[in-house]
Amino acid sequence: MDVPRRLVAGGVGLRLNKFLAGAGVASRRKVEALIAAGQVKVNGEVVREPGRRVDPERDVVLCGGRRVHPASDRVYLLLYKPRGYVTTTRDPQGRPKVTDLVPPGRRLYPVGRLDADTEGLLLMTDDGELAYLLTHPRYEVEKTYLALVKGGPGLQALQRLRQGVRLEDGITAPARVRIAGREGVDTWLEITIHEGRNRQVRRMSAAVGHPVLALKRTRIAFLDVGTLQPGSYRHLTQEEVTRLKALATAHQAGFS
Ligand code: URA
Repeated sequence: MDVPRRLVAGGVGLRLNKFLAGAGVASRRKVEALIAAGQVKVNGEVVREPGRRVDPERDVVLCGGRRVHPASDRVYLLLYKPRGYVTTTRDPQGRPKVTDLVPPGRRLYPVGRLDADTEGLLLMTDDGELAYLLTHPRYEVEKTYLALVKGGPGLQALQRLRQGVRLEDGITAPARVRIAGREGVDTWLEITIHEGRNRQVRRMSAAVGHPVLALKRTRIAFLDVGTLQPGSYRHLTQEEVTRLKALATAHQAGFS
C-alpha cells in the first residue's frame, strides 16, 4: 500500500541528515558534523538536530549559506564549450569561464576538463557522485575528439597512437584512431580514448610527430554534438541521465 511520504513513521518528511546526505552534500557522518557545527539552516533557523524532519519540496534548507536541492532536482547539461573558455569555476586571470555559459543560481560543476583552446562537449552537473564516477581514472567513459594535426601521419604514427604512446606520465591506453579528412597538407584525425589525462590528445599527437593545430570533443559516451552550437547547451533527457548512470556504475563494477 502506498503511504504518503508526509505521513511516514516517525513524523513528517525526511530526517535532515538523510536529506542532506541524499542530496549529495557530504557523507552521513560529515553531514552530522556540519549540522552540529551550526552550518545548516531550515527556513532561516539554525538547526542542530540531525533528526529534525524536513519536507524537501517545501522547506528551504541551506548548508554553509547555499541552498540544498533534493536529489530528484539535479541538473545535467551538455554544453558546447567554445574555444577561449576555461573549464574552472574561478579564474584568477579573469578569462571567460564555462560557468558563465550556463544558467546562474545553481552551482554546476564541469565533469572533467577541456583545455582553454579546445572546443566541444562538456557535461555540467550538480550531481557530484555521477561527476566523480565519470571522471575517475578507473572508470572513465569513452570520449571522441576531432584533431587537426600537422602534416600527414603515416601508418606507423597511426599504429603508435592506437597501441599506446609513451608520455612522461606513462604509456597511454589503446585508442581508436582514424583519418577523418584532410585540410591542405594537414590531417583531421578522429581519436577515441577513455583516459582523461591532462592535454592527452595534444601530447599523444606531438609525441608521434604531428602536433595538434585544432581540437574538438565531439562525443562523450553516447552523447554527440547534434545541433549544439559553440556556447549553447541542452538539458539531458531523463533517459540519457539513466543511461549515463548505468554506464558509470557498470564501469565501477568492472563490467565493461
Ligand atoms: N586532450 C587534450 O589534449 N586536450 C583537451 O582539452 C582534451 C583532451
